[in-house]
Amino acid sequence: MKIHLVTIFPQFFEGPFSCGIVSRARQAGLLDIRIHDLRDWTADRHRTVDDRPFGGDEGMVLKVEPIYAALRGLNAAGARKVLLSAQGPLFDQAAARRLAGYAEIVLVCGRYEGVDERVAERLMDEELSVGNFVLTGGEWAAGMVVDSVARLLPGVVGNASSTERESFTPDEAGRVGILDYPHYTRPASFEAEGETWEAPPILLSGRHEQIAEWRRQAALTKTRRNRPDLLAGRRCA
Ligand SMILES: C[S@@+](CC[C@H](N)C(=O)[O-])C[C@H]1O[C@@H](n2cnc3c(N)ncnc32)[C@H](O)[C@@H]1O
Repeated sequence: MKIHLVTIFPQFFEGPFSCGIVSRARQAGLLDIRIHDLRDWTADRHRTVDDRPFGGDEGMVLKVEPIYAALRGLNAAGARKVLLSAQGPLFDQAAARRLAGYAEIVLVCGRYEGVDERVAERLMDEELSVGNFVLTGGEWAAGMVVDSVARLLPGVVGNASSTERESFTPDEAGRVGILDYPHYTRPASFEAEGETWEAPPILLSGRHEQIAEWRRQAALTKTRRNRPDLLAGRRCA
């Protein structure tokens, strides 16, 4: 997959994409990330990308011209074009799976008060929000999209089955899945604060059927506690 990021802060991505699974995917040639400085598509001496909002208000708005020029300059006509925006539909695991199905994606990162609305109206295939909060820039959101999409690409995560049975994985009916079960590792007993914190003994028993049932129940318990919305409308044993 090829992912283009259009940003006024190309240096933002130097850290996040140079470590861990995303970095390994790039080195293995499974993921081609191209970072583009929006200012390279400006025509004036000051490399201007923003201007004051029509109608008057505080702040600045990213202009349509450089984004239009960037999208043409990328030669990515067939790519899925996504604007990161607090006003978009919420990005979730289903959207990550959907985007992972495209061969090429362009992610446009807004800044300041946002982006001239003609970009969303005329140039983008969709807007996506990573949550009901406002970030300073789309780069934070784009990093989340790239990371969550990259780990779904074939061959990127060594144990592919682990991405098929984790939090939010859709069930057979296509409903958003429940949370993953809790994980534990050595030591089985941890002495702290005058107590012994035990890992659940069943997980050390080697009884695979009982372990699977324990995990199913533990995942339901955790979902009921932390994300009851995921269980709405379901009948769970
Ligand atoms: C300060 S925000 C603009 C917020 C906008 N005035 C509003 O109230 O919806 C600047 C940029 O950050 C990005 N951004 C902010 N919150 C976001 C979110 N929840 N999801 C995705 N992108 C976001 C967008 O690219 C946006 O253009």
